[in-house]
Amino acid sequence: VNHLLGIKYINKKDIDLIFETADHFKEVINRPIKKVPSLRDITIANIFFENSTRTKLSFELAQKRLSADVISFSAAQSSVKKGETLIDTVNNILSMKVDMVVMRHANPGAAYFLSKNVKASIVNAGDGAHEHPTQALLDSYSIREKLGDVAGKKVVIVGDILHSRVALSNIYALQMQGAEVKVCGPKTLIPRYIESLGVTVEPNLRKALEWCDVANMLRVQNERMDVNFFPSTREYAQQYGVDKALLDSLDKEIVIMHPGPINRGVEITSDVADSQQSVILNQVENGVAIRMAVIYLLASKIQ
Ligand code: CP
Repeated sequence: VNHLLGIKYINKKDIDLIFETADHFKEVINRPIKKVPSLRDITIANIFFENSTRTKLSFELAQKRLSADVISFSAAQSSVKKGETLIDTVNNILSMKVDMVVMRHANPGAAYFLSKNVKASIVNAGDGAHEHPTQALLDSYSIREKLGDVAGKKVVIVGDILHSRVALSNIYALQMQGAEVKVCGPKTLIPRYIESLGVTVEPNLRKALEWCDVANMLRVQNERMDVNFFPSTREYAQQYGVDKALLDSLDKEIVIMHPGPINRGVEITSDVADSQQSVILNQVENGVAIRMAVIYLLASKIQ
């Protein structure tokens, strides 16, 4: 059985194939008839144990554009609330003749655990602070679309690196494709192991922005912290928030990315989020084509 559990488990050749396939599907979904019959025989369950807007809807739309049958499961409204385990839950869903499971879960390693314990193709839609592989794929795809290539580009990931699955998956994906990666943020939100991944820490935001071609601005994930983080939100916005004046004071035009959801006025101001330097909504658009490609390639091994 084939899975997408993390960027760590795939290679550059896999990424190239996903991007080639996504190029085709991006063309398809811009046609008047946006649907292809490719996965008429496949049934997919999207099971979400954590909240989501972009990932959940984008997977669902990708699956529907491929003509798969889709069921969606939100843990908050399910029998998980009565104490049913993850494996029992998924095995019950699979007994309804489901072929593939897309799962978001709060625990790092949950997708890997599931892949070892059930007989279905598993796609990780975010596992705690571990990985979010399709987000990293759509981020790199958006850089490639905007700048022509990922190789040789300088990318800074700004913010809460410690709690971010987007940061880790992006680091793996960007380095695999030959980009140089720095991280920038308060020391309290940078994990100690980060330099062992070949990533440089730049604590000064202006220096980081002056260095980079692309700045990927992350949200501070208060929901993953037991206590309030240091610095406070107001201090964070002052030291690590990007506004238009800062962008305009740089001697080059950098690309602004954000995985969403945005805290406007904290990590970026509205005049940055909505500027022509921002590719935030292009990232969301590309998410559908990337997820179509991932689902299609995995399903072609099931059929
Ligand atoms: N980027 C992202 O994962 O957004 P959601 O949490 O809304 O899915």
